[in-house]
Amino acid sequence: MLNGKHIILGVTGGIAAYKIPLLVRLLKKANAEVKVVMTKPAAQFITPETLATLSGNEVVVDIFPPEDSVVKADTWHVNLGQWADAMLIAPATANTLAKLSHAYADNAVTMLTLALRCPLILSPAMDVDMWNHPATQSNLSMLRQLGYFVLPPETGELASGLVGKGRMPEVELLLKSLDTILSRSYEDFHGKNILITAGPTYEALDPVRFIGNRSSGKMGFALAHAASLRGANVTLVSGPVHLETPKNVHRVDVESAGQMFDSVMKHRTKKDIIIMSAAVADYTPQKVHSVKIKKEEMKQGWVTVLKKTKDILGTLGAKKSKELLVGFALETNDGLKNAKEKLKSKNLDFIILNNALEEGAAFGVDTNIVNIISKNGKTERLPKMSKFDVANAILDRISKKMKA
Ligand SMILES: Cc1cc2nc3c(=O)[nH]c(=O)nc-3n(C[C@H](O)[C@H](O)[C@H](O)COP(=O)(O)O)c2cc1C
Repeated sequence: MLNGKHIILGVTGGIAAYKIPLLVRLLKKANAEVKVVMTKPAAQFITPETLATLSGNEVVVDIFPPEDSVVKADTWHVNLGQWADAMLIAPATANTLAKLSHAYADNAVTMLTLALRCPLILSPAMDVDMWNHPATQSNLSMLRQLGYFVLPPETGELASGLVGKGRMPEVELLLKSLDTILSRSYEDFHGKNILITAGPTYEALDPVRFIGNRSSGKMGFALAHAASLRGANVTLVSGPVHLETPKNVHRVDVESAGQMFDSVMKHRTKKDIIIMSAAVADYTPQKVHSVKIKKEEMKQGWVTVLKKTKDILGTLGAKKSKELLVGFALETNDGLKNAKEKLKSKNLDFIILNNALEEGAAFGVDTNIVNIISKNGKTERLPKMSKFDVANAILDRISKKMKA
């Protein structure tokens, strides 16, 4: 995807700027044309001359470039904004994230981002406490809502000597993310109607207590985000989660397995693709108490009978006509065998298997490790990837199958 593409690298004043020359080399090796824009603090960490030599283009550090600059002085930001196919800011400092979330245009990097007509990707890198600061997290949340891509930093040893989240991923991973995001502009799902479910379900015991599970909804939301960016009309039926709705996605909130069943049956009509990634309860309390149960009422312990919930995937499989149906299997043991049985019994086109006990996979984390099993028996194990990249890998298989 990077071949012949115009890439702008925005570099801001973080210690991880030392990795950027290597990223420029990798981009050039992939035949991309690279132009670098830096903040003045970034130039304290890595010289503009190094990046100019490696990229083969003048580096912009000033809003008003010097007299002898080849960059057109007056409206260089507008020209570059139109020239670019993608812009990556790496490292993106806490300071720059704060500015971008409020549309500042006070330096070469922030000013250019406002004039962009292409995807903007941010790779935040900072100390763990700067990352965890509520103001930084609130800024990130605003930036995601604006439709910018935020590549999650990694956890590990930081330049400060502290250990925690905040490390910029290795440049090979940045390159891969850039490649994935650019491939999306193909709009291969343009006009396709997709229904996706995400998150856990809560099964009420009384008005305040419920039986739930550990699903965060991140995988389903990543699928919705990715599908929407690839041109699909996405309806996302979500259980209770703490996630923002991706841009241009129609979200329907539900709580229980019963509500999710009803909502899916309502929205399934006229869908080209249905992806069920929610962790739906298999059992729900037979009796829901209308008032809060007091401690004193259950002196001998609380015994309740659970009844089976309605099988959403099984029902969709039984009613299936032309739409493509994808299910998820979360297993802890005998994964492949169980997933293959599920694929067959529910009449699915693909099943995505993940293991709840594997580190870096399934619930809560930003990454996943999956096996994609297709109806014809083909099984592909993908390496550990961000949930966003996993979402695109799943969509790639679906896209290929639709074209076949
Ligand atoms: C040695 C040193 C290392 C720094 N590393 C980081 C960093 O990794 N991430 C970050 O957000 N800020 C870091 N800072 C702070 C920024 O350089 C500072 O906030 C600066 O104003 C950022 O400006 P910019 O966003 O315009 O580039 C560091 C500062 C120093 C002195």
